Amino acid sequence: MRAVRIHRFNDTPRIEDAPTPDVETGEVLVRVQAAALNPLDALVVSGFAQHFFDIRLPITLATDFAGVIERVGSGVTQWKAGDQVIAWADAGVSGGLADFAVVPASACVALPDALSAAQGSAIPTAGITAWHALFSSAKLKAGETVLIHGAAGGVGGFAVQFAHMAGARVIATASGDGLALARDLGADEVIDYQARDFTTAVSGVDVVLDLVGGETQSRSYSVLRPGGRLVSTAMPPDEAMAKAHGVEASIFYAKPYADRLGDLVAMIVGNGLKVVIDRQVSIDAFDEAWARQTSGRARGKIVVSLS
Ligand SMILES: NC(=O)c1ccc[n+]([C@@H]2O[C@H](COP(=O)([O-])OP(=O)(O)OC[C@H]3O[C@@H](n4cnc5c(N)ncnc54)[C@H](OP(=O)(O)O)[C@@H]3O)[C@@H](O)[C@H]2O)c1
Repeated sequence: MRAVRIHRFNDTPRIEDAPTPDVETGEVLVRVQAAALNPLDALVVSGFAQHFFDIRLPITLATDFAGVIERVGSGVTQWKAGDQVIAWADAGVSGGLADFAVVPASACVALPDALSAAQGSAIPTAGITAWHALFSSAKLKAGETVLIHGAAGGVGGFAVQFAHMAGARVIATASGDGLALARDLGADEVIDYQARDFTTAVSGVDVVLDLVGGETQSRSYSVLRPGGRLVSTAMPPDEAMAKAHGVEASIFYAKPYADRLGDLVAMIVGNGLKVVIDRQVSIDAFDEAWARQTSGRARGKIVVSLS
């Protein structure tokens, strides 16, 4: 079967012929239709992700994918061959950028009829990160103001919609065509970060969702109200700076919370939210998808089709 793998860290990920995996007890074999990339894939390739995951080489990329169950292992009762699923694999074990992928049965949720496999594959990491960073970590409430940095990217595309739907006032930073996208997704105000210094445009916000890190994060403490909350997905915040500004700051790390993914998918479908796809390319054009993902300029998610 075709698989996009690396054999050592800092390899260039390439399509190669790989053995079709066997299912064991409690696992399912999925015929993959679509797999979505995340910044995490670049961290797996560089080896940095070893800080968080026990990475087994060679490894197939893409934790997030969707397809049809081909075969189930013994003890699996919740799925049968032919079921359409969204799967969220452990980044250390093996991903879904292949014709077939094996995951624990518990790592799958049903793909609703309303979503294509491409849309389903785009949800796990980005959707769960957006939701839990905003509501479990930052505890964003209706009526509060949230500044979302990186609003046009994979996580940002979901975060803007979730915050808007929850009744928060959303201020988004983006650039170029990302500005119109953020507005379209529900941002009340957009700031072109390449043209304007956001620290002079915004003050007294309740929450900053930092999806960018670096200077963007360190300059964000000053726009929070006293007692405000900064949550980053990009890098650990500076506790001393947070204390000096009288604000709370934390980092959110997503794990494959498939148990929460089903509810999130139902919520996205039930509320007619958009799954923003930057581009969908065939596995034969993987290099194009990889270049776009690693450019850091994505507008929503980058999806690779396998069927
Ligand atoms: N901790 C976790 O569990 C977890 C989970 C998911 C993601 N993450 C991290 O969260 C971050 C976002 O992930 P993602 O999937 O959304 O990435 P992504 O899809 O690659 O998003 C990149 C977006 O960031 C925007 N951007 C870059 N610099 C910016 C700046 N200074 N101000 C505003 N926007 C800026 C880009 O827009 P322009 O083209 O306009 O620059 C682009 O739209 C990454 O650092 C990723 O590693 C962490």
